Parts: sequence; structure tokens; C-alpha cells
Amino acid sequence: MGQDGVRADGIDTSKPHPARIYDYLLGGKDNYDVDRKAADALAAAAPEVRIGVRANRDFMRRAVRYVVENGVRQILDVGTGLPTSPNVHETAQEVAPDVRVAYVDNDPIVNAHADALLSRSGATSIVLGDLRDPRAILEDPDVRAVIDFDRPVALLLVAVVHFLTDADDPAGIVATLRDALPDGSYLVLTHATSDFADRTAAQAVYSKASASLNLRPRAEVERFFDGFDLIEPGLSQVPFWRPDGPPPPRSHEIGFYGGVARKRA
Ligand SMILES: C[S@@+](CC[C@H](N)C(=O)[O-])C[C@H]1O[C@@H](n2cnc3c(N)ncnc32)[C@H](O)[C@@H]1O
Repeated sequence: MGQDGVRADGIDTSKPHPARIYDYLLGGKDNYDVDRKAADALAAAAPEVRIGVRANRDFMRRAVRYVVENGVRQILDVGTGLPTSPNVHETAQEVAPDVRVAYVDNDPIVNAHADALLSRSGATSIVLGDLRDPRAILEDPDVRAVIDFDRPVALLLVAVVHFLTDADDPAGIVATLRDALPDGSYLVLTHATSDFADRTAAQAVYSKASASLNLRPRAEVERFFDGFDLIEPGLSQVPFWRPDGPPPPRSHEIGFYGGVARKRA
């Protein structure tokens, strides 16, 4: 461990990290004291957050099933997070065993846990990459080894775009990725919002973390789907997007929008 809290493998334990905060909130073990303190402060500021992260994860699985049932066999998942079973490839391959998945995250801890994340079939890859440099993701040889950009791709941006500031130009980043996708591709995106409850205190927790939390209102989140047609029921709070059971308690307070959309031909 270096004096600055950064370990030889690049894992920084000096400040909370989104992947590890999220892991702790989901009941995982790949987190440090600094992350647990931040997550507890987050849960104190936004009491439904534990239900919210589970609802986000459940949305992701329903969305993955939807795109695979609709013929997609390749998934590019940017902002993968730490392994939480069932992971994207497990959910997708349950519907169609030939689905290929490229995982991309900018946190070295996600890379370090790749072994647990990856299936043994060679149909998945994990890449250390940053959403703020979308061209590098598109050109990465390990992404290209798994994803053929001449065939439909489902792009997953699940609970990650809110870690981009306005100065990062998130709409421009999503548009760059969209333009690389062929017709018949899908965008699956979720995004945190304060449309349903004041989240100033929750946002403050991330001001000390490795990435800031940038809550956005509905109209701004909808803009990320420019060039795509939203699938029914459109952009929704995640528990209400094609639910497969009764919504969890406090669903109306959950501050995550989610949508699935097909690229316009
Ligand atoms: C809240 S987790 C979401 C994990 C998963 N997508 C899900 O919804 O279950 C956010 C993930 O995005 C990653 N992340 C944050 N900013 C990123 C960036 N600029 N580029 C790539 N990944 C990023 C974090 O490291 C973390 O693993």
C-alpha cells in the first residue's frame, strides 16, 4: 500500500468509489471501510437507496432478457460494477447461450475481480476503460474481439452516466457510442434523479468520492435516447418498467429512471 492509499494493483482505498459503495448497498463484500461509511451516509440521506439499487439491478436483468429475446446476441456493458450474481452474461446466456458480452469499467477493482465475473467460454471480456473516452472503448482490441459492430449490439449504460458531469458532455458521449451501433441495436440506460425526492444530501456524499453524482431531470435523461425509439412503457422509474412482480415498497420514491430503446433506422 502506498502512502496515498493506492495499492500496487491500482485500487485506491483512500476515498469511496462508486463500484464499491454500490457493492456494499447490494450486500456484497468487495468494499472497504471508506466505502461502507459513504454508503451508510447515503442510506441515511436517502432511506430507499438499498431498495433503489436492487430495483436498478432487477431492471437491468429484465432489460437484458428483453433485448436477447428480441434477437440481440452481443452486449457492450459500460460501467459494469463488481460481480453480483446473476451478472449480465449469466442473465443473457440463460435466454440464449451464444450471447457475447464485453464489460468495461474504469475502476481497477472491477478488473481485479474479472475472474469471478467471466464465464469460461471466451464469449466475454473485461476491459479497463473510461466512458469519458468512448472512441477508445470502441477501438479497444478486447472489446472488438467480442463485439462485431456490423451486427446488432445492446449498449448497457446502467447507473453510470450520472457519474459524468455536464462538462464531460454525456449526451455527446452517448451519441458517439450510438453512431457506432448498427441498425437493430438497443440502448439500455438508467440514471439517478431527484425528480421524486430532494437528494441534495445524497449528492453531498459523492462529493468526497472518486466520482461525483450528477442527478438529472426527466427531460435531460430522455435526451440520451436521441436517435433511438423507446420501447413501451418508455422512460420509467425502474420498478415500473415491465415489472415481473409487485413493485417493492417505496417504489414511487426510487430515484432511478430506466429505459430501453431501439436504434432508429
Ligand atoms: C453504480 S455502479 C453500476 C453497476 C452496474 N451497471 C449496475 O447497474 O448494476 C457504477 C459503475 O460505473 C463505473 N464507472 C463510473 N464512472 C465510470 C466511467 N467514467 N467509465 C467507466 N465506468 C465508470 C463504476 O466504477 C461502477 O462500477
